[in-house]
Amino acid sequence: MTKPQLLNSNGNAQAIALSERVYWIGALDPNLRTFDIILKTANGTSYNAYLIKGSHGVAVIDTVKENFAEDFFARLESVARYEDISVIVLNHLEPDHTGALPELMRRAPHAQLYISQKAQTMLKALLKQEDLLYTSVLTGDCVSLGDRSLYFLHTPYLHWPDTQCTYLPEEKILFSGDVFGCHFCDSRLFNDEVGDFRFSFEYYYAHIMRPFKDHVNRALELIEPLLPLTKIAPAHGPILRDQPQRYVQRYRELSQSTLQSEVPDGEKTLLIFYLSSYGNTRRMAEAIYEGAMSIPQVRVSLYDLEGSELTPFVDLIEGADGIVLGTPTINGDAVKPVWDMLSSLVVINLKAKLGGVFGSYGWTGEAVRMVEDRLRGLKLRVPVPGLRIKLIPTEEELKLCHHFGQQLAQELVGLRHNKIIDIADLG
Ligand code: FEO
Repeated sequence: MTKPQLLNSNGNAQAIALSERVYWIGALDPNLRTFDIILKTANGTSYNAYLIKGSHGVAVIDTVKENFAEDFFARLESVARYEDISVIVLNHLEPDHTGALPELMRRAPHAQLYISQKAQTMLKALLKQEDLLYTSVLTGDCVSLGDRSLYFLHTPYLHWPDTQCTYLPEEKILFSGDVFGCHFCDSRLFNDEVGDFRFSFEYYYAHIMRPFKDHVNRALELIEPLLPLTKIAPAHGPILRDQPQRYVQRYRELSQSTLQSEVPDGEKTLLIFYLSSYGNTRRMAEAIYEGAMSIPQVRVSLYDLEGSELTPFVDLIEGADGIVLGTPTINGDAVKPVWDMLSSLVVINLKAKLGGVFGSYGWTGEAVRMVEDRLRGLKLRVPVPGLRIKLIPTEEELKLCHHFGQQLAQELVGLRHNKIIDIADLG
């Protein structure tokens, strides 16, 4: 198979054909190393945009980041005229896909803009144009280009509220937006020609899609009936034309998998993590563990954060019903490994899990409250007030720890009576 040439003989960017009527008109960004501040990109990324020619109109799906607009327009002009563009679809409004939109709308004044229903307020906020005309669409809505048509699939939160996919049934191509994409830049464009991008595909899923697993599963309910597809055309990374269904299957696997739990149905899981500099928070942790273990139907685990990498814990927490964190207060703060763990949890859905915090302190004991606030910010429920103990816990205080563990475990199985004890409040 010949390799696509991305420049013509005059050195201008040119469109690449996916089929006789469908073209890639995006841009390559090989020098990008960090995307959206948090994502690493070892060999850059691509901003994929597409053009479809129908017998009665031309459609453009997505645009590119603003400073790559020149390549986008050159590629578009290599296969179509602006006056023939009747449809512009935005699958997603993030600026890496809408940067060239205002200029495209200026150049193609006859085009009708199609966005998802959830995109409407975002569009106005992003483009700052109150008089913008558009049509909002939902699953099943369709726009005709004559002998080609575009159907819309409402797939919100993959990974923004506005995200949708667009399907071209006559060619069985799915334009999937960020879904099935990855930050991988390779001018060979197609998955059967580019270098090995598996790590990038998995990394992208883990950081972009994983927090929205429920939404991924709902989107797959819409996408799987379309199989077999001839191509999946995502907004970043390789175009998937060789066995595109493999990538759909992989999303299904990833969105269903949590660590295989050996806990029988009906039992709840509670994970207790701690760090301890002088053994005081560890003594508290052990007493809390004993207390929680005394409640039937709760499987309790105790881990010293000093003894492991964080990654396996993230997987454990994703499958657990509750987590309890123990941290000493040092220099008025929780210790760094605890904050590291909390920041690593943003890739999973924690909503409605049980949270609890405890710790020994020397002077003021701010750490427990700070971590409680963070747990609430991550949407955990924190029904039992945090437990703080000054320096070395006494036998009486260890009983409080035991009781604290019991309360948390009782919360998990719906047996708790509201009795609040915080040793710091008693003193
Ligand atoms: Fe590729 Fe969510 O933007």
